[in-house]
Amino acid sequence: MTAPDSPSVASSKRRDGSHAVENAGRGPVDQLENSLDPELQKLAAGWTEPHLLDLERLSPTELTTILDTASFFKDATDNCKRKTDYLQGVTCANLFFENSTRTRNSFSLAARRLGSDTVEFTSSGSSLSKGETFIDTAKVIEAMNVDTVIVRHSTPGAPHQLAKNLDCSVINAGDGPHEHPTQALLDMMTIREHRGDIAGLTVALVGDISHSRTARSNIWGLKSLGAHVIVCGPSTLVSKQWEELGVEVAYSLDAILPRCDVLNLLRIQFERQATRPFPSVREYALLYAMNRERMSRAKGDILIMAPGPINRGVEVTPDVADGPHSVILDQVTNGIAVRMAVLWLVHGAGRRADTPSQNG
Ligand code: CP
Repeated sequence: MTAPDSPSVASSKRRDGSHAVENAGRGPVDQLENSLDPELQKLAAGWTEPHLLDLERLSPTELTTILDTASFFKDATDNCKRKTDYLQGVTCANLFFENSTRTRNSFSLAARRLGSDTVEFTSSGSSLSKGETFIDTAKVIEAMNVDTVIVRHSTPGAPHQLAKNLDCSVINAGDGPHEHPTQALLDMMTIREHRGDIAGLTVALVGDISHSRTARSNIWGLKSLGAHVIVCGPSTLVSKQWEELGVEVAYSLDAILPRCDVLNLLRIQFERQATRPFPSVREYALLYAMNRERMSRAKGDILIMAPGPINRGVEVTPDVADGPHSVILDQVTNGIAVRMAVLWLVHGAGRRADTPSQNG
């Protein structure tokens, strides 16, 4: 691996962070890939989409490209700590119409680790309260010379609408209960780091499946990479219909526990529920919380994950959340790496789509 601006390549930086190579015998021809580290050149070739809207439509190659690119950036930035200039001159905008701690801040950090400028939009305090529409608001932000918009919205399909209405790249940071692609990618990156491979593992998503965008994105991604996926929770939050997605449906955590390599413990999303799905939080915890006693019946190398926010004592007890099997904070760090990868890949693909073919 070489440094971001390897002196072995004679290049000058363009506004969008690509390099104009001047010694290739063809003048200052855009040669984004040719001026990069060979490992990144190969990764860039595996990605052609200017947007990341969901994982449902991604191939195993595309998923692996993102995960490999994230690992590259994690190494290249000393565990996501160091700044680079891979996206110098690029502007990324966070458009968050729903609350967030992890996703929003890690997208901001990821953009800055790549040398990008950032714009932070939150719906509270914005001109939405004066009647401006969602699309008009996004167009206003785009008109500030923004290259990539990262959107979180409570309405499923909101990022897809923006992709149709804007010229810039769009990344889905969570659309209602539909998908949360970068969350599932960081979950998969964490599993891969600890297990080497996802294929052949049994991964259980436990809790509020019906309202979970994390569950949907994890199902598409994990299945595509060869994992056996179990969705587990009370019947009010997991219906048998989920089997149509090719997953196993279970109602007893105790019954599936000995088979699980990974448990991803999902928060109960009371804010998305019209009625309470179980008699009491205490009863839910009794049946589904990962606690010390259940850990004693789990595989010796089980990974405990949670997308967060975690509710201690509901889906996981503090000793397990903070214990040796927990990789919850690794997930957070990997969130920066995955988001660096996605920002870099979609920007490069969008730029290539705008650039006339070198043969043309
Ligand atoms: N996991 C997740 O999306 O967390 P935030 O809501 O804090 O972004």
